[in-house]
Amino acid sequence: MSITTKSEVSSSSLNNLSLIAAHSHISGLGLDDNLEPKENSQGMVGQSNARKAAGIILKMISSGKIAGRAILIAGPPSTGKTAIAMGLSQSLGNNVPFTAITGSEIFSKEISKTESLNQAFRKSIGIQIKEETELIEGEIVEIQIDRSLTGGHKQGKLTIRTTDMETIYELGNKMIDELTKEKIIAGDVISIDKSNGKITKLGRSYTRARDYDAMGADTKFVTCPEGELQTRKEVVHTVSLHEIDVINSRQQGFLALFNGDTGEIRSEIRDQINSKVSEWKEEGKADIIPGVLFIDEVHMLDIECFSYINRALEDEFSPIVIMATNRGISKTRGTNYKSPHGLPLDLLDRSIIIKTEKYNEDEIKKILSIRSQEEEIELNDDSLSLLTKIGLETSLRYASNLISVSYQLAKKKRLQSNNGGLKVSIDDVKRSYMLFLDSARSVQFLEQNSNQYIDDDGNIDFSARGEAMDTSA
Ligand SMILES: Nc1ncnc2c1ncn2[C@@H]1O[C@H](COP(=O)(O)OP(=O)(O)OP(=O)(O)O)[C@@H](O)[C@H]1O
Ligand SMILES: [Mg+2]
Repeated sequence: MSITTKSEVSSSSLNNLSLIAAHSHISGLGLDDNLEPKENSQGMVGQSNARKAAGIILKMISSGKIAGRAILIAGPPSTGKTAIAMGLSQSLGNNVPFTAITGSEIFSKEISKTESLNQAFRKSIGIQIKEETELIEGEIVEIQIDRSLTGGHKQGKLTIRTTDMETIYELGNKMIDELTKEKIIAGDVISIDKSNGKITKLGRSYTRARDYDAMGADTKFVTCPEGELQTRKEVVHTVSLHEIDVINSRQQGFLALFNGDTGEIRSEIRDQINSKVSEWKEEGKADIIPGVLFIDEVHMLDIECFSYINRALEDEFSPIVIMATNRGISKTRGTNYKSPHGLPLDLLDRSIIIKTEKYNEDEIKKILSIRSQEEEIELNDDSLSLLTKIGLETSLRYASNLISVSYQLAKKKRLQSNNGGLKVSIDDVKRSYMLFLDSARSVQFLEQNSNQYIDDDGNIDFSARGEAMDTSA
């Protein structure tokens, strides 16, 4: 079987844009060369131990030698677990695949949950393919194009040379279009890829340096190539195993990469691709680059998914799996027993665990201040201090959400009273705190008024609604 690996489609997934917005201030793990966390760098503050641990994982991944490991980031809500994973992904090179999914997402697709996981695993494995292509490289002496009267059919000749030889090639329609598109004229040094007819302009020949009319300000000059016109070059491109699967699965073809709708991929295809890739590896034609699969909210997976992961980690092609959870001792979905972090013990036993901890006042203040800069909202000192206090007592995420809400309130108020210089004041923060509940206050409210809501069995106590609902009169 012949296997195609070429596609023009980039592997970056558009599914995960929502994760970025909350973490758009983060551009890395903020470590120095020794992997020591800097106090405040690349948008990252505090959480030093977890960042340092993530830095070591980053080193392991970058060395490209380690695969099939599981790492669990565990800690209370809004302590930066997702943020650290995002920071890590930013620090990986372009060639290392990083796939981010959330536990719940795999249940919402048309394909089965294990197929969905399988695709995520294979998206996270890069195959670096080395290929030799034949090129024609030389300086153009002359291009001759004859057009038929109707303009539909074109014919031509291309004379091209190196310092040692000169050859004339017949040109077909496609090549003529390509030459016209690249605006190639006599005196240009070009390279033609023989496998696909693609033409690249390398620059203008020094011998033509005096043809002023053919030059722009940014003209690049190169020497006329020496030796043979035909040369061989090694080119390297990286694709993910999943991309190879999709391109070679006949029902869908590579167009499926555009709309993301890949459906189930038959296991025979995957088997064939696996053995082909192993063969390439043996022959030195390809390198396997284990990337990272990040599964956020991993406690949302059920026991079948966990056992799938367990097995997949032992596969010949396995990425590094990073999971995150904020659960303590809790039930594993699909079972009746409880376990630490809601993960079955066998998977937990395989994982190394990175712990995140609650932030102190100072750290919360810094993070909130970075967030406000990111959202381009000015807070005055009092309002930042109040937000910090709120963050300490409720949660960092709630306080962070209040920034934009307070700003909207400030905007509304200033419009009414019409005095410019829009800065969020302590009053704006107070008002947004009153307007929007945090989870603790919401729970308290529910406890006091639970009889006004619909309960689990769909019942509602109408008498609790007071006078308006009283129909006895
Ligand atoms: N150390 C940090 N430096 C800078 N920003 C941070 C840091 N930790 C968290 N944040 C920011 O605080 C917010 C909450 O953090 P994050 O979403 O990472 O928490 P989490 O641990 O994943 O919580 P959950 O368990 O609820 O998913 C995000 O906007 C995140 O970017
Ligand atoms: Mg998270």
